[in-house]
Amino acid sequence: MKGVVLAGGLGSRLYPLTRVVNKHLLPVYNQPMVFYPLQALVNAGIREILVVTGGQGAGDFLRLLSNGKDFGLKHLNYTYQEGEGGIADALRLAEHFVDGDAMCVMLGDNIIENNICAAVETFRSQERGAHIVLKEVSDPERFGCPEIRNGKIVRIEEKPKQPKSAYAVTGIYLFDSTIFEKIKRLRPSARGELEVTDVNNMYLEEKALSYSILEGWWTDAGTFESLRRATNLVARTGANKMQVPAPELSARSRTLPSPVGA
Ligand code: DAU
Repeated sequence: MKGVVLAGGLGSRLYPLTRVVNKHLLPVYNQPMVFYPLQALVNAGIREILVVTGGQGAGDFLRLLSNGKDFGLKHLNYTYQEGEGGIADALRLAEHFVDGDAMCVMLGDNIIENNICAAVETFRSQERGAHIVLKEVSDPERFGCPEIRNGKIVRIEEKPKQPKSAYAVTGIYLFDSTIFEKIKRLRPSARGELEVTDVNNMYLEEKALSYSILEGWWTDAGTFESLRRATNLVARTGANKMQVPAPELSARSRTLPSPVGA
């Protein structure tokens, strides 16, 4: 499975911080924002990773991440999104890299307390389709929000005025390679973007979208408020923790600090 970190877009909700600095290079406590999603993919066992960047400071990503050796990688791939055409527009650029394989996508401004291993394993056991990860939040109107009936998602709405559940669709997505044909059929939304929510609804129509609920805290960091929350959460508890069974403690688990943890 390939991994993709999306670090394009203009980060306009963080102006003037992002006028000359790419949002994903801003600090979240003691690390640049992009470290967190990259580490989350690595912790899930994904070794072939593409960073999609854009806007300001694309060259800075090369200097910061180089060939990925600080994350235990042998190599890191990069591409550049022109403009801010939306998450699905950025994903389009991964087609050549993914090359018919499945991919795990993490938005570059998403930070998690634990890991995405369970979602990756669930998706590996399903032969086709897509898998999304939900998290209960107090402000679902800021996100993609699922309507759930009898435990099944029936539709996802992007930033609904009246959310139909208390869940956010997090920026952690697993897709089979049919995503690229789906993206070609997309039309820009009212905000002028190719929306990942529209892609997920296409999978839903094919009855090929599964979901799981994330353990531990999750936050985005794309607004002043959420950037502050992310910084506080990372400072308080650390991010990207791995739970591994300790052989000597059969019924318990222990927490390992991540290699690039707080
Ligand atoms: O954080 C989860 C939410 O992310 C989801 O619940 C929403 O369904 C999804 O649309 C997205 O919402 P946002 O409006 O918060 O997305 P934003 O425009 O802030 O973009 C999030 C990341 O995606 C950003 O850090 C980099 C990447 N991105 C975004 C755009 C618009 C790109 O790489 N290229 C882009 O053109």
